[in-house]
Amino acid sequence: MSKNNLMSENKKNVDWSEGRWKEMLIEQRKFMWHKDTIDKLAVWLELKPGMTAVDVGCGLGNLGYTYWPYFGKGGHYLGVDVSEELVREAAEASREWATGGEAKFMVGDAYKLPFSDNFADWVMCQTLLMHLEKPELALSEMIRVAKPGGLIMCNEPDNLSVMLIKPYWSMPELDIEEELLIKKVHLICHKGHIKLGRGDNSIGSKVPTMMKKLGLTGIDVRMNDIVHFLIPPYEDPRQQHLLKMVKKTQLDEHEFWIERTKEEFLAGGGNPDEYESFREISERLKPILQQQIEEGKYIACGPSFFYVIKGRKPK
Ligand SMILES: C[S@@+](CC[C@H](N)C(=O)[O-])C[C@H]1O[C@@H](n2cnc3c(N)ncnc32)[C@H](O)[C@@H]1O
Repeated sequence: MSKNNLMSENKKNVDWSEGRWKEMLIEQRKFMWHKDTIDKLAVWLELKPGMTAVDVGCGLGNLGYTYWPYFGKGGHYLGVDVSEELVREAAEASREWATGGEAKFMVGDAYKLPFSDNFADWVMCQTLLMHLEKPELALSEMIRVAKPGGLIMCNEPDNLSVMLIKPYWSMPELDIEEELLIKKVHLICHKGHIKLGRGDNSIGSKVPTMMKKLGLTGIDVRMNDIVHFLIPPYEDPRQQHLLKMVKKTQLDEHEFWIERTKEEFLAGGGNPDEYESFREISERLKPILQQQIEEGKYIACGPSFFYVIKGRKPK
């Protein structure tokens, strides 16, 4: 990849309709939930046919088609996104899934939603707040457009915690100093990511407190129960898909992500020499990972920290 491309890709606000980001958006939505988890969440959220739902930062309409079977009959789904291209594509795709109700998509800003006050039964977002510089402002807009008694749902991750745990895998054991250096890099990168205005990718665990502060009631939290596991010979489609994602992000796109790590580490106040030590560990592990994948020997098992947070606008 040329330096110019890399620089434009590293800009503050990602354009989710472009290249790798759009592909990531599509690929990460495959196998994202277990069907029985969505069934349970729909009960917990008290979804009913005929609801009017607003999805902020809707992307390709993932929340719309995921929950449509539970509210879509006679219902209205309104997807809002800054990206004209995603809105157009989502609208096209919705012809397939939005049967028996109405799905509309529009260009709009999470900070200034194109709806009047007290309008929707259900206002939702997924992996939106994590990318915003002012997530609380977006959440207060979501609350504004919800009816009194209306439901607010935010699906957001805590990615820093994922980086700080110790999942089981088949890669060589590192010594404690190296393990600690990797964790330190992730902690500093998290600070740098926020400093660069890219949002807080650990916002999931903070949203319940944010909802409380903004006056919501009945706040409750669940978690996506997906476990990322890879055990040879990767029998089911979920594992085959995950293996493809590991190959892509950790091997094919290794250089892009390592440069992004550098940028965020330095922005977070990290020491350049420590970054070089981190890079060396990463370069040492890459061919081992490649070989294990090629030989079908790679093993991994660990959780994701993806929160589903609900609250109600007071009546
Ligand atoms: C990670 S994607 C998530 C898309 C979708 N919610 C999903 O889960 O598949 C984030 C989305 O938020 C949109 N977005 C970013 N900033 C926004 C803003 N200020 N207002 C509205 N949408 C925004 C992006 O264009 C992108 O489609």
